[in-house]
Amino acid sequence: MSGSRLVCAGCGWEPPAGTMYPFRCARSGSDDVDHVLEHRLGADAVLDRGGDDNPFVRYREGLYAWHAARAHGLGDGAFVDLVRRLDDSIAAVDGHGFRVTPFGRQLALGERTGVELWLKDETGNVAGSHKARHLMGILLFLEVVEQAMKPPLAIASCGNAALAAAVLARAASRALQVFVPPDAEPAVLDRLHTLGATVVACPRAPGERGDPCMRRFHEALAAGALPFCCQGNENGLAIDGGQTLVFEMLASGAPPLDDLVVQVGGGALASACMQAFGRAVERGMLAHAPRVHTVQTQGAAPLRRAWALVRQRAHDNAASADDALGFAAAHRSEFMWPWEEVPHSVASGILDDETYDWLAVLRGMAATGGTPVVVDEPTLRQANELALESTGIGASPTGTASLAGLLQLQRECLIAPGVRVGVLFTGVQR
Ligand SMILES: Cc1ncc(COP(=O)(O)O)c(C=O)c1O
Ligand SMILES: [Zn+2]
Repeated sequence: MSGSRLVCAGCGWEPPAGTMYPFRCARSGSDDVDHVLEHRLGADAVLDRGGDDNPFVRYREGLYAWHAARAHGLGDGAFVDLVRRLDDSIAAVDGHGFRVTPFGRQLALGERTGVELWLKDETGNVAGSHKARHLMGILLFLEVVEQAMKPPLAIASCGNAALAAAVLARAASRALQVFVPPDAEPAVLDRLHTLGATVVACPRAPGERGDPCMRRFHEALAAGALPFCCQGNENGLAIDGGQTLVFEMLASGAPPLDDLVVQVGGGALASACMQAFGRAVERGMLAHAPRVHTVQTQGAAPLRRAWALVRQRAHDNAASADDALGFAAAHRSEFMWPWEEVPHSVASGILDDETYDWLAVLRGMAATGGTPVVVDEPTLRQANELALESTGIGASPTGTASLAGLLQLQRECLIAPGVRVGVLFTGVQR
């Protein structure tokens, strides 16, 4: 397939030819290796085809779905037609389809924070967040490979990812099961019902560790549903679509960033950003990636915990960060496990009790010189107010958590005055 391959980043497994749904490593769950399928793009793929304001047309060659289409005898023109058809249906459901989202310098916010601040604004994206990007990469793949049989789709989420999944599933006329906690917001549940999703409330069993929604989601997958989610470990193809966000930033004509701050829940967004910069550097589109920093809340910070353990291991063994990360890849449970306390935060969208895409994100931070920061609740609120006052954009506290991360990084003297910093407002305030 034109040098484009799926490979498990943990064990090297590749889906055998003819695998209908190559979403997960076949060995995942069999040992303590961190199994995540990664799309390795062939050297000849043209990342930016230019000339289109639909990112899934412009950056189509970066998608595994595009390469799968070629392998299935579907030409480039037919793939573009498919994107446009789906996008029209999405517009009919949600008011508009995928378009390049705003990326620009924010003078007022820059003045308030003392840096040259650049903002990528996802609040006007499909379903009000960046999440639909991840899912569009998966949906295009399904549309390419499936014929008559279209199994139901499934996701565990009660927020932006669920809404994005419901919009896209509706646009493609597919059944979707959404596994939500019992206290999910009524407004979100109403919208999910309106979009035709089957919503399943998942109470926590007494003493249950881990997320009950994830347990029910896995039961649905075992019964034949397909993972339509924004977590790379469940569906490696989720990462491709998320990368369009960075490609748009690179094509905007903005000068290269020194630092980028990304909010992290399950880690797919940060993983997509890291991989996109990697691809861009490989192709000479950019001299080097910015330092990519990550942000979690005090409510749940399993990524920073894993980072501290990796550094400890490197220190104790006088090993390099790369060696320690290699060890971590083969001993997942020593580095990543569900956060013990039930997490609370005003940034409720990044309270995942595990950072599912942790390893790719740690590798990206190690490679770029980034740091994982943890922000407290007053800082999350301060950033949210500052965002609205300085930009007029009504983003949610999760959406502005990257700005909270910037404030924290400055307090820790990890970002110098005047440098060029990017932040992402990832979701709208509902
Ligand atoms: C608005 C918003 N921003 C950021 C994130 C974090 O993304 P990820 O879970 O891929 O780390 C989420 C969801 O989790 C979200 O809803
Ligand atoms: Zn594997």
